[in-house]
Amino acid sequence: MADQDEAPKVAVRCKSSHPERAAYAAALARTLGLPFAGDVNGPYPLLLVVTDERLELLQPGSTEGPAYCDLTGGAFGYRRSQPLRRELLARAVGFKGKALNIIDMTAGLGRDAAVLALLGCHVAAIERHPVVFALLEDGLRRAREADTTSTLTERLTLIRADACDYLDELAGVALPDVIYLDPMFPERTQSALAKKEMRLLSRLLGREEDAGRLLDAALRSGCHRVVVKRPLHAPHLATSFVRVPPLEFRGRSARFDAYFSHTNARTAGPLS
Ligand SMILES: C[S@@+](CC[C@H](N)C(=O)[O-])C[C@H]1O[C@@H](n2cnc3c(N)ncnc32)[C@H](O)[C@@H]1O
Repeated sequence: MADQDEAPKVAVRCKSSHPERAAYAAALARTLGLPFAGDVNGPYPLLLVVTDERLELLQPGSTEGPAYCDLTGGAFGYRRSQPLRRELLARAVGFKGKALNIIDMTAGLGRDAAVLALLGCHVAAIERHPVVFALLEDGLRRAREADTTSTLTERLTLIRADACDYLDELAGVALPDVIYLDPMFPERTQSALAKKEMRLLSRLLGREEDAGRLLDAALRSGCHRVVVKRPLHAPHLATSFVRVPPLEFRGRSARFDAYFSHTNARTAGPLS
């Protein structure tokens, strides 16, 4: 896991005049162990801002807008209005109309997990970073309030944990049909960091170098199908067991590498 001490410092700020939002902001700062910046931007590289409607992460002084979890409107609203079964992600996880049980080891801002839940799958979305988790919880709360159907919110469960520890605790019992992971891509390429949200997350999280550990844990779990999202031209994630995925799904900017149980640690020995 990346050393959280090296991550840029974040403070909580309240931009709402509603007393209950101010109380929420103060409580959030206490829970997350972050300074409370009140109305001033302060010297903090990043701010977690409580507005009237939502929680957002922003870089003070930047012309870029904030990052927040939006599972109903904006770009995601457009994405979810399209036929989701045609998404490469749906094909990569092997969705054929039957609801799958899926663990998303890298929930982030929850969009991939939400697509899978909207398809009807049951998704446990795991996020280890407390600030990202707070954004995610806030997004799911708003989705709950806005959604007329409960397809998404009933099927998506958020879990704050290190996903490798979580899988270790499953210890082969109640394995999901699919484990999905979309690790941060450490190399600074245009395609990897093109999106504002990813740039802000990258500032928050610092360099995360342990993507191989995630894949290792997923393969060791014994899960039948493990799917890894990568930038289109990125190298495959290497583990001590597998170097090349047996199946790839290539899109315009992303690629999904699929690994199956016969390549995992329980049936194959380590590569020499
Ligand atoms: C690229 S983002 C995922 C974006 C996500 N697929 C989406 O659709 O919004 C990667 C996320 O994985 C999280 N992460 C990385 N390693 C993790 C681990 N071992 N356990 C849980 N979360 C982890 C990071 O904190 C980050 O929020």
